[in-house]
Amino acid sequence: MKATPCRLAVLLSGSGTTMVNLAERIDAKEIPARIAVVVSSRKNALGLQRAAERGFPTHVLTRRKFQEDGVFDDHAYSQAVAELIEPYAPDLVVLAGFMTRLSPPLLDRYDVMNVHPALLPAFGGHGYYGHRVHEAVLEAGCKVTGATVHFADPEYDHGPIVLQKAVSVAEDDTPDTLAARVQAAERSLYPQAVSLYAQRRLERRGNRVRILGDDS
Ligand code: GAR
Repeated sequence: MKATPCRLAVLLSGSGTTMVNLAERIDAKEIPARIAVVVSSRKNALGLQRAAERGFPTHVLTRRKFQEDGVFDDHAYSQAVAELIEPYAPDLVVLAGFMTRLSPPLLDRYDVMNVHPALLPAFGGHGYYGHRVHEAVLEAGCKVTGATVHFADPEYDHGPIVLQKAVSVAEDDTPDTLAARVQAAERSLYPQAVSLYAQRRLERRGNRVRILGDDS
């Protein structure tokens, strides 16, 4: 693996297990990167506490300030995120359970990656988060689900797919048991995708992402 340092800005809203997994894989030298800053959209997010415990610079940017008459200004919010992370000079923005749709002020400036607990484009989009995804997969009677890492665009859970990993659905699965297996898939897939990015081995062509060989 080439030791190309890659600076990550991690955006989260929840418990931060995705961020912790990335931090552990970085410590284990599986990803040639470092977490330069963590931004949470919720001030009480456990992930924020976990980031601070690891000594990462942290910021909170709640959605409230960007809400008027019940309408959220996602453009202004994305602009504020971009300004907040700029001093940390990130190469890649990593979404780790971040519950806000992003807009051009951030997406035009940075590559943004997301992980989703299903095989996109199925079971993604607004409202498909956490257990809701696995419930929908079971309700639909799917035999296979999985995890997807993709570059983010202005639509929720949408954009060029980097990696996917399939997970079989068992007949006696509950949303909990399925979530656990999909999460295990995410735990290896996301570090792998971030590592490929850090090694500059991802080439985007329109909606397709090509993985370049080690010697490309
Ligand atoms: C992750 O499991 C990820 O798949 C999901 O949020 C979880 C965050 O967990 N993301 C989405 O559903 C994106 N639509 P965490 O807060 O413990 O890191």
